[in-house]
Amino acid sequence: MGRQGRRHGTVTVVVLLGAPGAGKGTQAPVLAERLGVPILASGDLLRAAVAARTALGTAADRYMSRGQLVPDDTIVDIFLERLGADDAGGGAILDGFPRTLGQAEALDRALAERGGRVDLALYIDLPEDDLVARMASRRICAANGHVYNIASNPPREPGVCDLDGSPLVQREDDREGTVRARMAQQIPPLNEVVDHYRATGVLRTIDGLRSIHEVTAGLLAATNREFGAI
Ligand code: AP5
Ligand code: MG
Repeated sequence: MGRQGRRHGTVTVVVLLGAPGAGKGTQAPVLAERLGVPILASGDLLRAAVAARTALGTAADRYMSRGQLVPDDTIVDIFLERLGADDAGGGAILDGFPRTLGQAEALDRALAERGGRVDLALYIDLPEDDLVARMASRRICAANGHVYNIASNPPREPGVCDLDGSPLVQREDDREGTVRARMAQQIPPLNEVVDHYRATGVLRTIDGLRSIHEVTAGLLAATNREFGAI
């Protein structure tokens, strides 16, 4: 069972860092369960806005479909507003945010206003060629975005989500040309974010080339060192 998210009377904020395809969405639920806090995933938030055809979705889609980052102006306020919602009062696992140094600094300021900070930044690190291969075989469920991989993490029944029975689909931005663009555009700003958390002393790096279970074990070990074992 998850432990209470509150710690020292403040919030527990864990940032999950990694290039596209590193395994953030695969690993986030285990950490959320362990810490008893929700997952806030910027990509899921944006994909929901695109599907609902909101103004945010229309603005974001132009960038997402080209593999580019959505501008900080478009994502920062919306993401921080989501972080301020009641269910994140004890903290959250952040998947996909921050993605630029500007976003990391905006997050630091917003948390400082609440008497908090980023407690831990877990970086799932692996080479670009392995990332591209993984995304070619990724599938997600249409209803909730649960993540599978037809090579390394297949569903029990082909094409159907184990958790909610919805059909599995390929993400629009997982086609090879877009994947290469995402790597080229998104890894340099990610490296700046990694450096930021290294400088503040909260960065822990996990070898993302290992199996899903081994990566989970590495993430939980780092989390237990920070927050204590349960
Ligand atoms: P987002 O949805 O966040 O995509 P991403 O960061 O590119 O990351 P992915 O979701 O592609 O990968 P993941 O690390 O979650 O890997 P997964 O667990 O699925 O963002 C989408 C777009 O929105 C961005 O391109 C951008 O345009 C925009 N955006 C979002 N946030 C933004 C922000 N803050 N600022 C600006 N723009 C923003 O795993 C990948 C595959 O590998 C799966 O098939 C999985 O089953 C498999 N797998 C996982 N771990 C392993 C393992 N250890 N071994 C073998 N296979 C594995
Ligand atoms: Mg993801």
